Amino acid sequence: MSAEEKPGHNWNAAAYAAQCGFVADLGAPVLDLLGPLAGLDILDLGCGDGALTRKIVDGGARVIGIDAAPDMIAASLRRGLTARLMDAEDLAFERPFDAVFSNAALHWMTRPDRVIAAVARNLKRGGRFVGEMGGFGNVAAVRVALNIVLADYGIDGNEISPWYFPTAADYKARLERGGFIVDQIALIGRPTPIGTSLAAWLDNFAQVFFHALSPRVRVAAQDRVIDLLAPLLRDETGAWTVDYVRLRFAAHLPE
Ligand SMILES: C[S@@+](CC[C@H](N)C(=O)[O-])C[C@H]1O[C@@H](n2cnc3c(N)ncnc32)[C@H](O)[C@@H]1O
Repeated sequence: MSAEEKPGHNWNAAAYAAQCGFVADLGAPVLDLLGPLAGLDILDLGCGDGALTRKIVDGGARVIGIDAAPDMIAASLRRGLTARLMDAEDLAFERPFDAVFSNAALHWMTRPDRVIAAVARNLKRGGRFVGEMGGFGNVAAVRVALNIVLADYGIDGNEISPWYFPTAADYKARLERGGFIVDQIALIGRPTPIGTSLAAWLDNFAQVFFHALSPRVRVAAQDRVIDLLAPLLRDETGAWTVDYVRLRFAAHLPE
């Protein structure tokens, strides 16, 4: 299966830039965890359209972004960044990095041990792995609504989910098995105002679920998901807040 065919890699960079700016904006705390950036060699894992990558470069680091979505890599290159089309499981570079950074990408990578091993292979001794991803309980209300609606069409939403939302204990154990020393790791509840309609959010982040349906019923199914969630996630002004939970961590390899 090529990178483009895998679920979760079919991103529209223009829609992402226009409608999902909150993802990179809310990446500031995990970026702070990296500390001073000047002079470091950093890999941005799942760099997307490069909005956060740009900030790491502006902080004085030498940065390479990788992403499995061709449209995202094209957008990063348009920002003047160094970016390569690469799967996070198959990282291959000439020289190891001081740190690997990742925001909002690791939960799309459903074989976490392969990703952690690839990160470890491409870090210097003592190198750091700092990231934030969807964690256990992330977008739970959305998932329940998707599951209810898909069940009406005979589809198990859990089976086709493109996401991996681990607990802190699960991801810590995986990092340790991969050779890392975990400095900190915690789940953080972060209800997130999305600034768009829920339909736009579903188009950007949950298209895999609707593509499991025939085109004839997709719109009706999406409307029903939105109707189920409106009393819970849409406020009196019409603004949507999605029930995000993040898993934020910092780890390093032994010297
Ligand atoms: C929600 S975006 C986050 C982008 C960016 N880090 C940000 O903070 O805005 C998730 C990105 O992870 C990428 N991704 C998912 N699975 C991947 C994999 N196996 N290898 C590389 N990139 C992957 C997607 O293509 C997408 O661009």
